[in-house]
Amino acid sequence: MLATAGIEPLEDPGKSRKLIFESSAGDHRLVVMRGSDVPTYVEYGAADVGIVGKDTLLEHGSDAGYYERLDLGIARCRIMVAAPAGADLRHGKLRVATKFPRIARRYFEAQGRQVSIIKLAGAMEIAPLMDLADCIVDIVDTGNTLRANGLVALETIAEVSSRVIVNRAAMKTRFDDVQSLVETLRRVVAA
Ligand code: PRP
Repeated sequence: MLATAGIEPLEDPGKSRKLIFESSAGDHRLVVMRGSDVPTYVEYGAADVGIVGKDTLLEHGSDAGYYERLDLGIARCRIMVAAPAGADLRHGKLRVATKFPRIARRYFEAQGRQVSIIKLAGAMEIAPLMDLADCIVDIVDTGNTLRANGLVALETIAEVSSRVIVNRAAMKTRFDDVQSLVETLRRVVAA
């Protein structure tokens, strides 16, 4: 999408160990980083613009330092609650395994449900199978990973896709540049 918008790195980021790339047109600098670091770089203004999953934005907590300006419509998936087929989750304090502790806590607290959040880094699906948790809050795309591990999706917490975020100060001080980039990407999405 960036290439279609006329923004291409001088080198192939997939082949280089570099993390910062000049663009071929010389008007943008592209930085490769972990998704979870993108909101931090953008909110502090170290980067003017970021591309990041909505799951990461929801988990980041505060959106005080950036505006979410565009849904790129790619990397679509859902954040869902899932549990072993037939599990009865209606009573008592739920043990919830997740790599999204803020999202999970907000969701269950809004329902007045008492939960114990267990933070994991990956492979959430095994937590209920090994009796570490009653259910999980995780990303679901095809649902294959849930099915392969005998879990069923119960509730959708949020729809996820890649979003463009802009530093709040840059939205004022670099309005023309930022707006032109966002509008160019908007046309790419529409096409
Ligand atoms: C995500 C998620 C599930 C899987 C869901 O894991 O945590 O395990 O994808 O996809 P599916 O519904 O198409 O099966 P990811 O590959 O990001 O790795 P992770 O376990 O390290 O988070």
